Amino acid sequence: MTTPQQPRAQWLGRWGFVLAATGSAVGLGNIWKFPYITGEHGGGAFVLIYLACILAVGVPVMMTEIAFGRRGRGSPIDAVRRVVTESGRSSLWSLLGWMAMLAGFMILSFYVVVAGWSFAYLWKAVSGGLAGASVDDMAAIFAANNANPLNLGFWSTLVTLATMLIVGKGVQAGIEKSVRWMMPGLVVMLVILIGYGMFSGGFIDALRFLFVFDAGSLSSDGMLAALGHAFFTLSLASGAILTYGSYLPARASIARTTVTVAIADTLVALMAGLAIFPVIFANGMSPEGGPGLLFMSLPLAFQAMPLGGLFAILFFVMLSMAALTSAISMVEATVSWLVDNKAVSRRTAAWGTGIVLWLVSTLAMLSFNVGADWTLAGRHFFDWLDYLTSRWMMPLGGLGMVLLAGFVLNSATFRDELGLSPRWHALWLFMVRYVSPLGILVIFVDALGIARIEFGAHWPWLAAVLVAISVIGELASPRLRRTLAG
Ligand code: PHE
Repeated sequence: MTTPQQPRAQWLGRWGFVLAATGSAVGLGNIWKFPYITGEHGGGAFVLIYLACILAVGVPVMMTEIAFGRRGRGSPIDAVRRVVTESGRSSLWSLLGWMAMLAGFMILSFYVVVAGWSFAYLWKAVSGGLAGASVDDMAAIFAANNANPLNLGFWSTLVTLATMLIVGKGVQAGIEKSVRWMMPGLVVMLVILIGYGMFSGGFIDALRFLFVFDAGSLSSDGMLAALGHAFFTLSLASGAILTYGSYLPARASIARTTVTVAIADTLVALMAGLAIFPVIFANGMSPEGGPGLLFMSLPLAFQAMPLGGLFAILFFVMLSMAALTSAISMVEATVSWLVDNKAVSRRTAAWGTGIVLWLVSTLAMLSFNVGADWTLAGRHFFDWLDYLTSRWMMPLGGLGMVLLAGFVLNSATFRDELGLSPRWHALWLFMVRYVSPLGILVIFVDALGIARIEFGAHWPWLAAVLVAISVIGELASPRLRRTLAG
């Protein structure tokens, strides 16, 4: 391992990091993915579990990751290795960093395809390709956009090029500045769309769908999806937040920045739901429309609004920007690892990564046309990338991180980095030791079919078990530490 020659770049103060991390967190996950998986998993109950996962797992994991990044000052692999070595633990733990880096890369490989949809729809909005389309036309337009590999490939290639161009230029230049106007702009657009939705005739149905808790509607697969999405939407366990954390100045408060990012991210997702579902219900569409949900619904709303053509353009510009600020964060881990370890320039690292990315993402893009039949166990390549990362790699990576922080490493490390008051520190420790890992484990146990847990009926028991395990865990903690430390 070579250490970087120059001191590591840093964000411009606390807001630099918050903006960049928000830019990473808020993206297609909030506006494209959250509404469509909520639709697929039946609404309210899914939303509730998702919010619980953000709070109980997402926030503690994010704090832990940023602390790892800042303490280790490096890519996930180097940072984790440095932090565990500092505590005298096995450097094998840096496998967690490898998995995160791989997850970020895999996510980006399908993310550029979805971002490509956004670019393509921007072009359609500009060139009038969406005007006057009916509900059925919208489905046909979405299908036609996917059917031609040259068309779809053109857009995903464009996104890949744009991402690598920005990443090649360095961490600070473009990232922070664009988020500063894009994020408020996106929120304004969503407010306008929600305002429109209120009068569309589908608003009450949308509210009911999103916020009425119907315990029976949630499958174990839905719970795993909610957990996975909490990781996805906050950019966790994929190298992004950890690497951004490695550029965080020593004096910034990790807890405060984490909470700010988590709140902004959650609000944007809920607002996207409130913008999309009224259109769905008012037009008699199915909430289970799948990945095309956003692209088949919102253009209908724009069509019916005064100045809709202009709003459509603005919306897809901002969606595309939001996608880019997320995309750049996904390769930052890989690029910074290459720069620190392989003696290559940032530009070379970015373009090298870009070529591999282009190959893998082209394969993912083909899932929508010529490769539609290339499936394995019912999933095509695009789906596999999403499924493996969201359902397995990120939750498992997050589990590894919290166990490491909670039981294995010297407690002084995190006390220093987080700099919390004793009471808040105790709360964080309780979360990373028990609540987050048990939450992840319970959902895995359920999803693997080992046991079916009825959350609606049994939550008091589950809470009691959690407390019991925590008490026993605290008593057995020195021993547990030794076991986990290997
Ligand atoms: N959080 C991003 C979004 O919601 C996606 C992302 C995942 C970004 C993993 C970085 C790492 O769109």
